[in-house]
Amino acid sequence: MSTLLHIQSSPRKERSASNEVAQAFIDSFQKKHADAKLVTFNIWEEDLPEFNQDALNAKYAGLNGQSLTESQAHAWEILKKYANLLHEADVILLSVPLWNFGIPYKLKQFIDLVSQKDILFTFHPDRGLEGILQNKKAVGIYARGLQLSKESNYPAEQFDFQKSYTEAWLNFIGVSEIYSVIVDKTIFGEEVDKASRKVASEDARLIAGKL
Ligand SMILES: Cc1cc2nc3c(=O)[nH]c(=O)nc-3n(C[C@H](O)[C@H](O)[C@H](O)COP(=O)(O)O)c2cc1C
Repeated sequence: MSTLLHIQSSPRKERSASNEVAQAFIDSFQKKHADAKLVTFNIWEEDLPEFNQDALNAKYAGLNGQSLTESQAHAWEILKKYANLLHEADVILLSVPLWNFGIPYKLKQFIDLVSQKDILFTFHPDRGLEGILQNKKAVGIYARGLQLSKESNYPAEQFDFQKSYTEAWLNFIGVSEIYSVIVDKTIFGEEVDKASRKVASEDARLIAGKL
């Protein structure tokens, strides 16, 4: 049985373009893999801990090979619990709105919490950084109000810190099979938004058919 983890990072719930297109992916994926387990993780409904002094001290103690205090160990266990969501998934589906050309801060908070040495990556002075999450697939659904293009004066090469960052992070933690769908022009009126969601949903279904 495979596990599909859906990380939702839009607070717009059913009005969200990224969630709507992700749902098209999920429906097709579940049709193909009837026994797949779906785990939905909405980062806005989760009371994510701060990356506070205990967590930071635990991180540096681990980097320096020192043992953890009780409160540091407790903070570390919480980080591990969130990272386990990723470890237990076969396919990681991320719905990601574009916020100020980057990702929503809550998603960044989640990434900062879970991206730890010996949890999601290792570091060897001779080999450098190595991601731990091998043999997993990821699908990113990227929603944008505008279109990042030369015509809009916001070319993706210069202004995309959403898809490019998310994919760099996935690579860093070891995920190399990555698919993406862009649903853009969501603020150009109902008609344009609807048409864009339709095309992107079809793209998402096609990807689900391949996995
Ligand atoms: C705080 C905030 C910042 C945004 N910044 C951008 C932006 O930089 N560029 C853009 O094209 N759209 C921007 N938008 C519009 C969203 O990307 C757009 O509404 C998208 O559909 C959001 O995804 P969702 O529908 O899944 O929530 C922003 C929206 C919000 C709420």
